[in-house]
Amino acid sequence: MGRIDQETVNRILDAADIVDVVSDFVKLRRSGANYKGLCPFHDERTPSFSVNKARNICKCFSCGKGGSPVNFIMEHEQLSYQEALRYLARKYNIEIVEHELTDDERRAASDREAMLGVNEFALSRFEHNLTETDEGRNIALAYFRHRGISDAMIKRFHLGYSLEKSTALYSEALAKGYQEKYLVDTGLCIRSDRGGAYDRFKSRVMFPIHSVSGRVVGFGGRTMRSDKTIAKYVNSPESIIYVKNRELYGLYQAKSAIAKKDKCILVEGYMDVISMHQAGVENVVASSGTSLTQGQIRAISRFSQNITVIYDSDAAGIKASLRGINLLLAEGLSVKVLLLPDGDDPDSFAQSHTSVEVEEYLKEHEQDIIAFMTRILMKDVAANDPIARAKVINTILRSVGMVTDGVTRSMYVAECARTLGLSEEVIILQLKKIMAARVEELETEARREAARKSISDIPETDAPQDPTANTSEATVPATQTSPQESAAPDVPLLNLTTNKLRPYERVLACYVARYGLSYLCDIAQPDGNAHPATVVEYILADLGNDEITFTDPVLRRTVEAVEAMRTSSWPGDRLKFIEEAQQMRLQEIADGRDQIRATARDVAEIENKDAELIRHCDARYNARLLDFDITYAQRRLVSDPDNDIRTAATDLISERYTLSKIHTKFAHVETEQEQLPTLVPRAIYELKSAILAAYIDELNRKLAATDISDTVAYSNILREIVDYQRIQQDFARSMGERIILPRK
Ligand code: CTP
Ligand code: MN
Repeated sequence: MGRIDQETVNRILDAADIVDVVSDFVKLRRSGANYKGLCPFHDERTPSFSVNKARNICKCFSCGKGGSPVNFIMEHEQLSYQEALRYLARKYNIEIVEHELTDDERRAASDREAMLGVNEFALSRFEHNLTETDEGRNIALAYFRHRGISDAMIKRFHLGYSLEKSTALYSEALAKGYQEKYLVDTGLCIRSDRGGAYDRFKSRVMFPIHSVSGRVVGFGGRTMRSDKTIAKYVNSPESIIYVKNRELYGLYQAKSAIAKKDKCILVEGYMDVISMHQAGVENVVASSGTSLTQGQIRAISRFSQNITVIYDSDAAGIKASLRGINLLLAEGLSVKVLLLPDGDDPDSFAQSHTSVEVEEYLKEHEQDIIAFMTRILMKDVAANDPIARAKVINTILRSVGMVTDGVTRSMYVAECARTLGLSEEVIILQLKKIMAARVEELETEARREAARKSISDIPETDAPQDPTANTSEATVPATQTSPQESAAPDVPLLNLTTNKLRPYERVLACYVARYGLSYLCDIAQPDGNAHPATVVEYILADLGNDEITFTDPVLRRTVEAVEAMRTSSWPGDRLKFIEEAQQMRLQEIADGRDQIRATARDVAEIENKDAELIRHCDARYNARLLDFDITYAQRRLVSDPDNDIRTAATDLISERYTLSKIHTKFAHVETEQEQLPTLVPRAIYELKSAILAAYIDELNRKLAATDISDTVAYSNILREIVDYQRIQQDFARSMGERIILPRK
């Protein structure tokens, strides 16, 4: 299935009406300008799910879920972006035009399809072998029965059996016309030295591995023998359809339960997942015995930000896997752990307890990760061994430092202070050091990466890739730029200052998301002519003059998305709209005139009423155009294919998000939109001031770290500080004089 062509996407986005889309699932009631209903994403008695028809978005003010029509369908039906678009296209009878593939794309797509087809065939053979052959029934089905696996689970996970004869699948596949190349590429068969090929998985029970959308991308095969010289599991090799660090066993079967319970439980193996499902706990996935990768974490976080890792109580295993925990924290997930009773793994535990017992145990024994780490690591440290103690404290704080959310982090600080018996000040100080060291590490890494790039300097000609997926086995913490971003060593400020600048950038991004394409003021061109500028254009031009870019990558991408509209589709679409609006205006004037003629008593009245009519129609025309400009960007942003942009835009646009005090101070006077000529320059000024303050802060820190006896260095820094402070003062003064003339 190809991608949907952009024209079609636009048509779908324009057609999809949020009230209409939501009404298919939620009973809505009018409430003022909006609609309200019971949230479909969590249980509630009083409605907190609000639908805003004008902005075409919905949002639950209790659980926070919602967004554009596309978002709503993705979330409610657990579909991918493309799938949700197809759903809406069906609903609105829009014919789908597939995006034209390039030759390379077509070749890659057909290779992929061929491989998925071969896997599909193999799956059907394996399932057939399990129940329809004597060998399968006697060996494999008996084995599953012995392991307590029900027929329902065999069906649900499509378990199967690969026959003992070493060319069973190979010959059947060839006979059915499947190409040897794809049998080998998928790893189902292995090429033999003597020509031909043989089955990789002979005499094993088979666990198909589904992608999140339900395609079979690989297999795991477990031997039936207890012989220790044979690998217990054999797995499909990595291929263009099976990118191991992106797939999680069971995610396809678990995803809706994960979203519904807003929690994902992580176990180790195939059997663990299946037995837990059988016990009624369906929000479970397996990492297949390896530690989690960033790609897998991202796959989970599409459905929930909460993860519970189940450990068997073997201490060595626990300590080793604590390292993987940092990656989870750095990706912004909230992490809990659960210890099973001695000697149990999830499989045995689920098999030996009732569903109710399993659920109860999960609820009662879940622990916070940091508290858990503290307990486990501190247990082995003698009270009189300060060095060992310090080491452990550092390990724990390193994990705390990975936590991206500031509020959670400060809660951990308080918690650690208590459990480690230290003052919060000491903890914070230590944490700052650790975080600063990490930033430095990241920067060095970024520089190295940049150097590597500039040396190799090979243009990237990779096949098109899913932009949300990251194929590298990366251990990149979240503060670093996302994969679409090239590492940006040219950003002069420390990454940490992103946190300080973000609130200011957010205000600007908010104006762009809400009003990006509406007219702000005329700006002078180099050729001396005035040029009518939109909000996004004005902001980018002004920041660009001082070589300022957004430090927050998501906000930056959101603003850039609006700028991209401004320079591509918007002008043409706007012209079309203007034509229509003009016609409407002329029609309205004509109708109005007829009416005036029919009712007026004299010529003076006709003239008066006529003038009034034209004023009225002009105002409506202007209002329509304004509405078009505002809605154009908003509608597309909240349905952007980029997950991050979609979420950010929904937040920025939804009414719940209130702007800084600057705005509320004025809010009673005029609408926010009318205030933009004051608000926008002010917000730019605030951002620039914050940047200056961050520079000065940084210098002060440098000053504090410099030995005062090194007079040259010391006074140089001091001078720099003074220079910056002067700029700051000039800047503040000039702000007083800076106004944009409002539109007449
Ligand atoms: N695994 C693997 N290759 C191996 C061993 C393990 O891929 N040689 C993966 C499998 O995904 C397996 C998981 O690691 O499910 C956990 O391993 P293990 O606990 O040994 O297997 P179980 O799933 O418990 O299988 P069983 O209970 O049948 O022994
Ligand atoms: Mn086991």
